[in-house]
Amino acid sequence: MSRKKFETLAVRTQIKKTQEHEHSSPLYLTSSFVFDDAEHMRAAFADEVQSNIYSRFSNPNVQEFENKMALLENTEAAFATASGMAAVFASFMAFLKTGDHIIACRSVFGSTHAMFTKYFPKWGIEHSYFDNENEVEKLIKKNTKILFVESPSNPGLAMFDLEVLGKISKKHNLIFNVDNCFATPYLQQPVNYGADIITHSATKFIDGQGRVLGGVVCGKKNLVNEVYLFCRNTGGSMSPFNAWLLSKSLETLGVRMDRHSENALKLSDYLSKHVEIEKVNYPFLPSHPQYSIAKKQMKAGGGIVTFSAKGGYERAKKFLNALEMFSLTANLGDTRTIATHPASSTHAKLSEEERKAVGITPGLIRISVGLEHIEDIISDIEQALQKTK
Ligand SMILES: Cc1ncc(COP(=O)(O)O)c(C=O)c1O
Repeated sequence: MSRKKFETLAVRTQIKKTQEHEHSSPLYLTSSFVFDDAEHMRAAFADEVQSNIYSRFSNPNVQEFENKMALLENTEAAFATASGMAAVFASFMAFLKTGDHIIACRSVFGSTHAMFTKYFPKWGIEHSYFDNENEVEKLIKKNTKILFVESPSNPGLAMFDLEVLGKISKKHNLIFNVDNCFATPYLQQPVNYGADIITHSATKFIDGQGRVLGGVVCGKKNLVNEVYLFCRNTGGSMSPFNAWLLSKSLETLGVRMDRHSENALKLSDYLSKHVEIEKVNYPFLPSHPQYSIAKKQMKAGGGIVTFSAKGGYERAKKFLNALEMFSLTANLGDTRTIATHPASSTHAKLSEEERKAVGITPGLIRISVGLEHIEDIISDIEQALQKTK
């Protein structure tokens, strides 16, 4: 039989049924598992039999979520983590040692930036940032181990050519690590461009309903096994409850991403024609500087739109206060539309220069476009723009 399609894999991948013949996977809320006898216990610890031992190592719900993610990202294996940052952290620490060097795009998520700049130097790990693909080869040194990219980036929506970066990684024997959080495997599959490791914050579109934290690292079996061993020993594993919920969420990922993208494209089109708007940024708008890259490697533009209205920093804050329906919250990828002002919140600790370098202007507003009717989404933005003129 041919390989099943994305939507079918997302719905039909399930762990084995119990003797109860349940239709939906039960929740295995247990910290540990029992053994038949001392010999079974010995063999399980010696990896001679496949047997769950302890939920920090493995758990049926977590395995269902991991199996699904590996199938959806088209990778050999996956390991689920307690949060997106636990996934990003493990995807580095499982492979690096003192004296190593990594290369990353400058426009990485704030906590990833803190990891590189605040913690890595303490452990003797160097990093170099690049702003576009052409700079990467010049930055490679003898001790370079990992090439990391976030595409599209949060919140700047910068995009990088995964095919070009994949080729460079292969040529120089680097581990190519892609944070695929904004696109999800439904819109972009980095493995097709040579990614060795794909990291996710499952907290965002994978959950899609703003309920739990989670993360996952997908990739080749030998690499994912290193991540598993690192987390099994250091504690960043996913809880069974979160995995049970996230596995259910994956069943609707495709339909949700289609609608998020459809609403976001309509919203960005409306904003780009508005007299009160100075700039709109959306991967599938022809005015996006990397529009051709987006079209090449993404199926649709995703659910995040950024824009700046006339009036900069002060107008942005007033605009947020004038919104009636949108949620003002730090999360994204929810069914509910969310507005944030990065310069006064998530990125307030960066200097103006640092913000500018990753595309965060004083008036930038980030909208995580939800699944409400598009007319209601536009109507809330319109009334807030009129009120703050
Ligand atoms: C691109 C990206 N990577 C990683 C993370 C971290 O994920 P978490 O909040 O689940 O730890 C986020 C969170 O917003 C993100 O946007």
